[in-house]
Amino acid sequence: MHEFDEEIDALAAKILEYSLVRLKKDPPLDGPWTYDELYTEVGETITEEGIGGEKALDLFKHVLAKACISTDHPRYLAFIPSAPTESANLFDLVVGASALYGGSWLEGAGAVFAENQALRWLSDLAGLPQSSGGVFVQGGTVGNLSALVAARHDARSKYPNVKRWAIACSNEAHSSIKSAADVMDVEIVAIDTNKNHKLQGSTVAFEVDQYHRLNPENRIFAIVATAGTTNLGIIDDLEGIGKAANDRGIWYHVDGAYGLAALASPHSKPLFKGVELADSFIVDPHKWLFAPFDACALIYRNPETGRKAHTQHAGYLEPLDSGEWNPSDYAIHLTRRVRGLPFWFSLATHGTNKYAESMDKTMDVAREAAQLIKEHPNLELLMEPELSIVAFTRKGWSQADYQKWSDKLLNDQIGFVTPSSHEGKPILRFAIVNPWTSITDIKVILATL
Ligand SMILES: Cc1ncc(COP(=O)(O)O)c(C=O)c1O
Repeated sequence: MHEFDEEIDALAAKILEYSLVRLKKDPPLDGPWTYDELYTEVGETITEEGIGGEKALDLFKHVLAKACISTDHPRYLAFIPSAPTESANLFDLVVGASALYGGSWLEGAGAVFAENQALRWLSDLAGLPQSSGGVFVQGGTVGNLSALVAARHDARSKYPNVKRWAIACSNEAHSSIKSAADVMDVEIVAIDTNKNHKLQGSTVAFEVDQYHRLNPENRIFAIVATAGTTNLGIIDDLEGIGKAANDRGIWYHVDGAYGLAALASPHSKPLFKGVELADSFIVDPHKWLFAPFDACALIYRNPETGRKAHTQHAGYLEPLDSGEWNPSDYAIHLTRRVRGLPFWFSLATHGTNKYAESMDKTMDVAREAAQLIKEHPNLELLMEPELSIVAFTRKGWSQADYQKWSDKLLNDQIGFVTPSSHEGKPILRFAIVNPWTSITDIKVILATL
């Protein structure tokens, strides 16, 4: 099993060939199969003697892969798609082949050095000081949780007598904030957004003060702003909220899992004024920064706060305690894949200007899509896109109509667009993060509405 013999050599050629064909060709859209359909085609694969690499690869190629939607398809516009560059995907093969350990400097210095340069680029774009730093974690959910755990750890040391802790965020914050609050057993203070669905600094200041007045034994330990909401792509009043948090000595976390990627373009960077006030922020390269799953960049203004909250201690870990940068110390994890390396490789290969161009391209398509929707007789645009999410409704349709349309779109292998809801009403949204998504792709989908 651990020898690179002739059989493995032949299998390697087949696996590499499959991977290259997948990269070179336009991806198929594909879609889910039922359990029974899969079982009929695949049967039992785990046996005492093994089915052999060739058979396993064939099953993957001809059945299992076809039962997975290609998230990089240009007409995959549901949720938040992914659009890794060719070089990022290729380097993922290198990472997979190299048994790199990304938890400590001792074991992974070279890889950690490169990951940290990619993190530095993001941190500089956000305007955090040179002393900032962080780590790539699995996804935005873990990134948000790790930042909030660090925030509470910091607050506990300053306010030891607090009875109950709370996080303040907008009622349009991502579901992972609520999930973090559940895991941490803390309250959520949900604050209303303004009529444009933006959380405002003045409202936050008022609500936070009111909460503390009404609950003198409780304390809000973190204020979370969203830089690009998942549903509509809206950027909160980052500067006003940051000031409200800073003035009150409360940790300021910016969830930019999707949106903060647009810091990469000089055109959209000004939209994020105020992010430089953050104590921590996240952005997912696997969303709109053209990296493969799964990578979330988590950055702390003062990494020491993250380290104090997250470092694990044990006799067997003492050799790592050399004062060097150990990525494990900055989030909820110990063993880690160097998941930031494909992103680093692509950034280093293409340079940051190409990132800005690709970003602009997706936002141009989003604006053009919004225009086409406004001109469409059956559709109503919810609002002009601030980033690259375009939300709209189909006149006269019920929830069931939306779902039927979405199912048919996928069944016909035209595209993947799932219904969402806004203010209790069903909506459709295009999340455009793929530079391969052209206005023609949008027209093809709009023609079915
Ligand atoms: C704003 C925001 N925050 C957090 C997340 C969670 O990220 P992940 O799915 O990588 O855990 C998402 C995912 O779409 C998001 O849009």
